[in-house]
Amino acid sequence: MIQTDIFPKNNYPFRLPPHLKNYQETYDNFNWQGANNEIVFFDNGKLNAAYNAVDRHLNSPRKDKIALIWQGATGNRQTFTFNQLAALSNQFAHLLKGKGVQKGDRVFIFLPRVPYLYASFLGILKIGSIAGLLFSAFQENALLDRLKDSGAKILITNSQLSQRMKNIRSQLPDLKEIIIIDSDNFDQELASQSGQLEIEKTDPSDYAFMLYTSGTTGKPKGVVHHHYAILSEHVTAKYVLDIHEEDIYWCTADPGWVTGIAYTILGSWSCGVTSVIYEGRFDPATWYQILADNHVSIWYTAPTAIRMLMGKEDVTPKQYDLSHLRHILSVGEPLNPEAIRWSVKQLGLPFHDNWWQTETGCICIANYPTMDIKIGSMGKPVPGIQAAIVDDQGQILPPEREGNIALKPGWPSMMKTIWQNEEKYQSYFVNDWYLTGDHGLIDNQGYFWFIGRADDVIKTSGERVGPFEVESALVEHPAVIEAGVIGKPDPVRGEIIKAFVVLEQEYLEKIKDSTYSDQLKQELSQYVKKHLAGHAYPREIEFIDKLPKTRSGKIMRRILKAKELGQPIGDTSTLEEY
Ligand code: PRX
Repeated sequence: MIQTDIFPKNNYPFRLPPHLKNYQETYDNFNWQGANNEIVFFDNGKLNAAYNAVDRHLNSPRKDKIALIWQGATGNRQTFTFNQLAALSNQFAHLLKGKGVQKGDRVFIFLPRVPYLYASFLGILKIGSIAGLLFSAFQENALLDRLKDSGAKILITNSQLSQRMKNIRSQLPDLKEIIIIDSDNFDQELASQSGQLEIEKTDPSDYAFMLYTSGTTGKPKGVVHHHYAILSEHVTAKYVLDIHEEDIYWCTADPGWVTGIAYTILGSWSCGVTSVIYEGRFDPATWYQILADNHVSIWYTAPTAIRMLMGKEDVTPKQYDLSHLRHILSVGEPLNPEAIRWSVKQLGLPFHDNWWQTETGCICIANYPTMDIKIGSMGKPVPGIQAAIVDDQGQILPPEREGNIALKPGWPSMMKTIWQNEEKYQSYFVNDWYLTGDHGLIDNQGYFWFIGRADDVIKTSGERVGPFEVESALVEHPAVIEAGVIGKPDPVRGEIIKAFVVLEQEYLEKIKDSTYSDQLKQELSQYVKKHLAGHAYPREIEFIDKLPKTRSGKIMRRILKAKELGQPIGDTSTLEEY
């Protein structure tokens, strides 16, 4: 039996009547066909996700409502109404069309969280091309892998980030043009485009956007989502985020992460909410100030950020007027019970944990204002999604038994494919279940509990990192023969990246000098940071004589992890002598 603390629904300070009045009743009666009237279709079942996010509001008083309150990294502010956002995205659409972009072409965006990122994303979808998003922390290797695999035709970036393209451009024959949004003439060029557009009427299954995400093996995979995903995103924004007309909403996620797409651009705007977007980096005082200044009422963030706020004793919520907050949520990694207790104490509200993945396209398991929270549980499946715990053969396991968290395919935002890798796509499915790669269990009352990843994928500060990418970056350094990379538990970041590195012979003597050894570790960390990504570098490095491997030569990261944690090593029958 799982021992739990409960935050009863009756203690939730309902300031607005929740959209989801009775979880069980809605869950039992929900079907996607019936939910179709939540979004707008053109004739013959055609639709467009970007039209649903923004342009649908132009026929209503929301036309002049503020859609976007943007705060720049240096404190500058700009606002855009739905009407202005629609026009700006139409101008992007024309600009791209003028450059020969066609339906199905991949257009990638590599920008910090500036208004043009959001407008260009919408513009790309409006002409039926496929938007790809790249974190601004990405460096050469990460950019090259993604742009090459996707065959991107256009990259939209700024002058600073475009420097990272210099050395790799020649390896990207499909890339026809790099658009620099802060170049001399860009604003005029964009402004000279028409603000009116005949929006592409796509099939529900036409591709809309793609995001590269990490697994255990190989390079990141291009997860592709179709236009019909907007339905799940809209419905979950309504039922889980509980977005109302009068809300001011802030989702802290970057659109390089699916959360920033589904719940800043698509589902949340489709519900007509005013969104705050902050360009800058995490900083406790700035974050609280943003919540206070903008009267934010719904706040969607992530556990690492919450833990960092909790750890800051000289800057606390009580120093700010956060009285407008009415619903707060967290996603991306396990939300520890202390974080919920902290928020109840500091903000008078519990964080509502919810679970989903790049692949699922929308929140799948969640806590709701009208349901008791079992602190530490991710909640229950959202209406329209069937979730279960299954064994490796796809057989449903009874309550309280650990197994694979699995979802029954069939909700609108389930990934459509893995870009040019049908085999990989098919490998997710067993006995008609989509296996999520996570382990968990269901308790006797139907609440889901997260246990851990079934594979070696690392979650550091909420970012999903594949060990293979980091290992590949490390072995490019001349000192390194091979490397094994794991996620090491960390009280703030959830996990940090730790690398076990086997050095070339000539370095073995040198690292006997501890100063040199420390320097080399620093150098290797920086090397990964510079070549792969600002967030995916090892914070800890250990030099080791030999990596544990299977007889077929595969690195056994599980063993590295068990040793690191002082845990039993488990079955080693497939292991080469170690
Ligand atoms: O392991 C789970 C963890 O994050 C993974 C999905 O990562 P990503 O695709 O980057 O997420 C995008 C949108 C959230 C999952 O397989 N995860 C996500 N939410 C939770 C979580 N782990 C524990 N609790 C959660 N609420």
